[in-house]
Amino acid sequence: MAIDTDTAIDTDKLNAFMGKMVGDFGAAMSASSMLVGDKLGLYKVLAEKGPMNSTALAEATGTAERYIREWLATQAASGYVDYDPDRKTFSMQPEQALALANEESPFFMAAIGNLVAAAFLDEPKISDAFKSGKGVGWNRRSECLFCGTARFFRTSYKHHLVQEWLPALDGVVEKLQRGASVVDIGCGHGVSTRFLAEAFPKSRFFGFDYHEGSIDAARLAAREAALGDRVTFDVHSAKTYPGSGYDLVCFFDCLHDMGDPVGALKHVRETLASDGTCMLVEPFANDRLEDNLNPVGRVFYASSTMICTPASLDQEVGLALGAQAGEARLREVARQAGLSRFRRAADTPFNLILEARI
Ligand SMILES: C[S@@+](CC[C@H](N)C(=O)[O-])C[C@H]1O[C@@H](n2cnc3c(N)ncnc32)[C@H](O)[C@@H]1O
Repeated sequence: MAIDTDTAIDTDKLNAFMGKMVGDFGAAMSASSMLVGDKLGLYKVLAEKGPMNSTALAEATGTAERYIREWLATQAASGYVDYDPDRKTFSMQPEQALALANEESPFFMAAIGNLVAAAFLDEPKISDAFKSGKGVGWNRRSECLFCGTARFFRTSYKHHLVQEWLPALDGVVEKLQRGASVVDIGCGHGVSTRFLAEAFPKSRFFGFDYHEGSIDAARLAAREAALGDRVTFDVHSAKTYPGSGYDLVCFFDCLHDMGDPVGALKHVRETLASDGTCMLVEPFANDRLEDNLNPVGRVFYASSTMICTPASLDQEVGLALGAQAGEARLREVARQAGLSRFRRAADTPFNLILEARI
């Protein structure tokens, strides 16, 4: 492309922007190698057994040395592992291991490889949808989106749900300890449902999702966790799930994915006990676009473009709140559904925890 000589180009600005683009290019390209490292257990073994060279890591993981040598170089250039040029060995610092090697840590991030893969695999459908204006439902997505979502959100649920989010709700922990009935709608693989059930053995939990494959996975995981009949999973949409008199209805990162969030919350109003609570866990967002133009907002707007907005547009009403709806917009949705008592109960850099009541 010819450069328009009439347009003044600030060379410093151009260099800075090209530097940013190279950084982004490297992050995008190395995301797939993060997926390889996560899938093949390379980070885990390096964190446990390092410092080690490529031959030792290949032997310990049953992989081919030449591939491992290139992978390690990518990781070192990314700053994900350290390289010692004198010994020609690679290792992981504790902080790198927390993010990439330890699935139980509060900082585990390696599951993002699955989500990035799903965004690329499904891109042709999304590009078509940009032109048609139609949606792309959860049932038309690549398999890695489901397990990536479950693994990515698990970290927050494991470390915040029972410890911080439930205690921030008015009187909910006491009810759960005594024995309450709880709905987890849009439960996906049921990770949140299982954490709740493990923490409150006197309560009864119903996980619902409109995606059959996710409910199958949730049932299997609950069986493996030996949670018995206190936890059941069934295919139902947010507007039609059965039962009434529930003490707690939870939406974990799914209200904004729904076509008709007002209709969904109206159904909550009809099925909730009069003193019951609806907990909305939504991606952290400020109310104004200009206040979300930061690294976390970037992640969520990108996810919203490729995942959440197409999901909502595929359903009736197609409100498409987007993953950065923000508290004020969500409050308005709850008000329209008749849940007029609404407050922010807690937040993390990634989550807004909102309490809605009749
Ligand atoms: C981003 S995933 C979150 C899954 C799970 N709550 C978690 O936190 O891991 C959104 C979920 O909402 C479900 N979903 C979307 N629209 C729905 C609807 N109208 N009724 C029930 N589930 C719905 C999808 O199938 C998907 O499992």
